[in-house]
Amino acid sequence: MSNKFDAIVKRESALLCNTYGRYPLAVSKAKGCKLYDLDGEEYLDFLSGIAVCSLGHSRDDLAEVMAEQAKKLVHVSNLFYQEPQLDLAEKLLSTCAAGKIFFCNSGAEANEGAIKLARRYMRKVKAEDRYEIITLEKSFHGRTLSTLTATGQEGPIKDGFNPLPEGFITVPFGNVNALRGAIGKNTAAIMIEMIQGEGGVRILPIDYVNDIVALCKENGILLIVDEVQTGLCRTGRFWAHQHYGIVPDIFTSAKALANGLPMGAVLCTDEAAKGFEPGSHATTFGGGAVISAVASKVVDIMLEEKMSERALELGEFAKKEVKKLKAKHPDKIAGTLGIGLLFGIELTFDGSAVWKALMDNKIVCNLTQGTILRLVPPLTIGKEDITTFMNVLDTILEDVSI
Ligand SMILES: Cc1ncc(COP(=O)(O)O)c(C=O)c1O
Repeated sequence: MSNKFDAIVKRESALLCNTYGRYPLAVSKAKGCKLYDLDGEEYLDFLSGIAVCSLGHSRDDLAEVMAEQAKKLVHVSNLFYQEPQLDLAEKLLSTCAAGKIFFCNSGAEANEGAIKLARRYMRKVKAEDRYEIITLEKSFHGRTLSTLTATGQEGPIKDGFNPLPEGFITVPFGNVNALRGAIGKNTAAIMIEMIQGEGGVRILPIDYVNDIVALCKENGILLIVDEVQTGLCRTGRFWAHQHYGIVPDIFTSAKALANGLPMGAVLCTDEAAKGFEPGSHATTFGGGAVISAVASKVVDIMLEEKMSERALELGEFAKKEVKKLKAKHPDKIAGTLGIGLLFGIELTFDGSAVWKALMDNKIVCNLTQGTILRLVPPLTIGKEDITTFMNVLDTILEDVSI
């Protein structure tokens, strides 16, 4: 480790709250699918800021849009009308069956908004005292008090934050009877991710999703889909719920929306949108002009360059490559997970040493649930980069003993 790096670690520990277990890498710049450390060493990025910089890093076209809009209008308060926000809303609504949008600043804030909308819709539109949100085990919905309570995981995410808000129930994944049993007279919504990213790149089976949709209809409750990680072409459709042919009452977006600038959104049907009225929900920065202009350009590029198809094709390519690796290392690779470029390689053993060796070989990815290498590269990554990843992993697996 260089002296410069050591100095940064020391400086940070004196300055910042100790909330992150950081990887041993200080990034000084990034371009395309590459990150560069303090010494200019190049890393291949299979993480893209965890599904954020989906169009690659430091793009000139997005920088130009950002600079142009910043010279005209940066912020004007949501007390006023402004068009960049509407341009973006029009584009996003053209990608799905939702009828209305609320813009905010992060994934957790979008989920918080979705929860508030579901509760308020039940109280004010349906005149029913329904407020409970049912979520799934191993889900991840954010770090605000409500969204961490909604999150179906224990550990440091919840530890020490009592009392947690009321009105959240978590049920075992994949168990329809448990879900049916959890629905009561106070249930407002079921909230799911189509693929649990943090929870181990776990796809919700189609039959399970159909049962969830049916349960929502039977019981007059709303379906909320958290697309914070899965949205914007990541899984091979613009929105992951489109793989299932379903129309959620409410779904949320964030991460890739502005390719690295902080933005979130709550998208909903016209009916669900009736739950909000002036004064019921707001945010100072949501839908700011600069971020909206950048996000509009992101949506344009994603559609023009057919990023969904690209994600799907590259995901299939990666799957085939892993199959070859599994044939060589049948005792070490369990299989693949996910779809498109929300991709997991499941190992049969604790993957910490493999992950560390990848980092040492200048490949950045992430280890989740102890055994799953999560690959969420920019959607602009090339087949040759995937091949490089697999070759390096092959060598590491040769050496690692289990
Ligand atoms: C599915 C999902 N929901 C919500 C969040 C929270 O988003 P944010 O960190 O922007 O608040 C995340 C973040 O990883 C996520 O993956």
